[in-house]
Amino acid sequence: MINGRFSLLDATAWVLTVYLLLHVPHIEMRVDDFEQQAQAQAREQPPASTESPVEEKVELNMGKCFHLPRSKCPAEPNCTKVGSMAVFCCDLDSARLKEALASSITQNTTYLHVLNASIDVLDVSQAIFRRLSSMAFTDGNIDKIVGQFPKFSTVACLNISNNNLTTAKLPIQRPYSYLFNLSILDASANNLTEFPLSLLHSNRKVSVDLSGNKYLPCKHFQKAMETNNSSLVTFINYKTTYCALDISFNWFKDVRIVQIDHLRVQKELNASCRNIKPANINCTCIPERLEFPGGEVTNMSVSVSVDCTQRNLTVMPTDLPMNTVKLNVSLNNITSLQPVADDASYEHLRQLIVDHNDIANILELEGTKFIDNFMLFSIAYNKLKTIHTYVLSNRFDTTGPALSIAGNHIHCDCNTEKMLKPWLLENFKNIPDFKMLECEDNNKVVDLLEWKVCHTPRDWTDYIYYIIGLEVLILVLLISKVSYDYWVFKTAGYLPWPANKMPRLPCDWLCE
Ligand SMILES: *[C@@H]1O[C@H](CO)[C@@H](O)[C@H](O)[C@H]1NC(C)=O
Ligand SMILES: *[C@@H]1O[C@H](CO)[C@@H](O)[C@H](O)[C@H]1NC(C)=O
Ligand SMILES: *[C@@H]1O[C@H](CO)[C@@H](O)[C@H](O)[C@H]1NC(C)=O
Ligand SMILES: *[C@@H]1O[C@H](CO)[C@@H](O)[C@H](O)[C@H]1NC(C)=O
Ligand SMILES: *[C@@H]1O[C@H](CO)[C@@H](O)[C@H](O)[C@H]1NC(C)=O
Ligand SMILES: *[C@@H]1O[C@H](CO)[C@@H](O)[C@H](O)[C@H]1NC(C)=O
Ligand SMILES: *[C@@H]1O[C@H](CO)[C@@H](O)[C@H](O)[C@H]1NC(C)=O
Ligand SMILES: *[C@@H]1O[C@H](CO)[C@@H](O)[C@H](O)[C@H]1NC(C)=O
Ligand SMILES: *[C@@H]1O[C@H](CO)[C@@H](O)[C@H](O)[C@H]1NC(C)=O
Ligand SMILES: *[C@@H]1O[C@H](CO)[C@@H](O)[C@H](O)[C@H]1NC(C)=O
Ligand SMILES: *[C@@H]1O[C@H](CO)[C@@H](O)[C@H](O)[C@H]1NC(C)=O
Ligand SMILES: *[C@@H]1O[C@H](CO)[C@@H](O)[C@H](O)[C@H]1NC(C)=O
Repeated sequence: MINGRFSLLDATAWVLTVYLLLHVPHIEMRVDDFEQQAQAQAREQPPASTESPVEEKVELNMGKCFHLPRSKCPAEPNCTKVGSMAVFCCDLDSARLKEALASSITQNTTYLHVLNASIDVLDVSQAIFRRLSSMAFTDGNIDKIVGQFPKFSTVACLNISNNNLTTAKLPIQRPYSYLFNLSILDASANNLTEFPLSLLHSNRKVSVDLSGNKYLPCKHFQKAMETNNSSLVTFINYKTTYCALDISFNWFKDVRIVQIDHLRVQKELNASCRNIKPANINCTCIPERLEFPGGEVTNMSVSVSVDCTQRNLTVMPTDLPMNTVKLNVSLNNITSLQPVADDASYEHLRQLIVDHNDIANILELEGTKFIDNFMLFSIAYNKLKTIHTYVLSNRFDTTGPALSIAGNHIHCDCNTEKMLKPWLLENFKNIPDFKMLECEDNNKVVDLLEWKVCHTPRDWTDYIYYIIGLEVLILVLLISKVSYDYWVFKTAGYLPWPANKMPRLPCDWLCE
């Protein structure tokens, strides 16, 4: 148009050069961690600016997507041209949309943005859309998207952000089936419940924005991330994209909305979880904090919870994932806690649950990092014979750490009554189940009574009074017998039995 006016003039070339220098297409690209690839791609294929000389500048997001803010809307609800290639419309309803589009879209139009279209049906198969490479219907209310994009559609960017769309309104398999050139899909801020997985079949690199759709199942994201190279699908606004984790995903009971980054973390975690030894025990590992993390969660700082319950283990597992803070090995046949002291992967452990095992003592934990740091140590229903309280010595000065020892049957003696019982009573806040520690005879340790258990093997001196008493009694009996015998002898003249049977002794002469 510009050079059409001044044909054949030498100056034309100069004017055109100057014009081009001043109006080099200004391509605005949002820089985001996860858009690098899209950007690189965009640089490879710069927007169609090379095809025709530029008029008014058209800003393209990520090199492909055309959209304008509300402030650029025409005064009346209508469409306006932006340069010769772009059309921008605002606030159209079903009745006006068709007319407005028909009067403004030309065969040169490749970018279309309709802001706030309140329409019943959007039929994407219309011929009017055939030449578009960027198609955006945003911030409106679309009741239904129907039809099928024409074969070999040139649409590279489709923006249907913020239209109150549900999956039911968006027959997602079909409309995109011919979008071979689609590389950016923005379906953010809708209410979709299914991931447009069919996109992946195009085997192209696609950037997808699904932020603001909270009910998309995580399974779908997982599939998208795991299908071949996850780089095939790049998530725009990755950090604010959430998904719904439901019962069928691993071992969670509730539906939880999580950042999709959790899936990546989980995937990496599953890999390190398989390295736990002994091999093939299939422990499960999950990120310990599942709630939306407040700050940045880097790979390194993800705390891990490991579950190895009921695996027929006879030894503590080793080579736990990095940053394992919680380990549950209940219901196994473990006999020793030694690896807690020896294996470096126990370094960050805060909670250890070894209930229902065969552990006989906690001596192996003496001086370990675990003892210094633990918040929960549950060793209920094991085979503890004694509780070496000094191993835990200083940990119960604060109220944090908790110990669980119920269901152990320890060997009880006077020492138990004198040392362990007071220790239990003293630390009752840290040992909530202290009342359930039992002796071998099933009596509770806290019920031990001193006089029952504390009889030391008795010395003969303990019986000295009985012996003295007995001796006095015998002496009294002897004296009375002798006196009686004497009295009988004096009065009746004979000696009663047994004195009369006694042999005569030399001293008898004295008496007579
Ligand atoms: C889609 O449109 C919305 C609203 O105009 C805009 O904020 C967003 O950046 C667009 N998406 C892309 C990928 O250009
Ligand atoms: C919309 O704009 C077109 C020209 O682009 C014009 O012909 C039409 O009358 C306008 N319609 C309304 C309702 O303003
Ligand atoms: C969107 O368009 C409708 C008419 O189609 C209008 O009533 C409504 O106010 C518009 N919304 C905004 C936010 O301007
Ligand atoms: C389309 O563009 C070509 C040149 O690029 C121009 O000659 C033609 O007039 C344009 N058509 C319309 C309807 O703008
Ligand atoms: C979204 O769509 C539902 C029907 O599917 C409708 O009831 C609701 O009003 C819509 N919300 C908005 C903000 O337009
Ligand atoms: C669409 O993709 C094909 C190859 O897949 C390519 O030849 C063509 O140039 C692309 N068209 C646009 C408008 O990007
Ligand atoms: C989005 O979908 C969910 C589940 O289908 C529904 O409970 C919720 O009301 C919907 N929200 C809106 C705004 O339509
Ligand atoms: C994934 O790779 C297989 C072959 O390795 C291929 O057949 C399949 O089409 C690929 N899928 C995607 C989505 O790239
Ligand atoms: C996956 O990516 C690697 C490099 O990142 C590449 O060598 C490989 O061919 C890719 N595989 C597929 C199926 O795209
Ligand atoms: C662990 O899982 C694998 C495959 O799921 C299975 O073959 C193996 O028997 C399992 N091992 C145990 C100890 O359950
Ligand atoms: C543990 O052993 C029992 C019997 O030996 C067996 O039934 C059970 O499947 C085993 N469990 C695992 C996880 O290997
Ligand atoms: C493991 O312990 C359970 C009960 O705690 C017992 O029934 C089982 O026989 C033990 N297995 C081995 C191999 O000791």
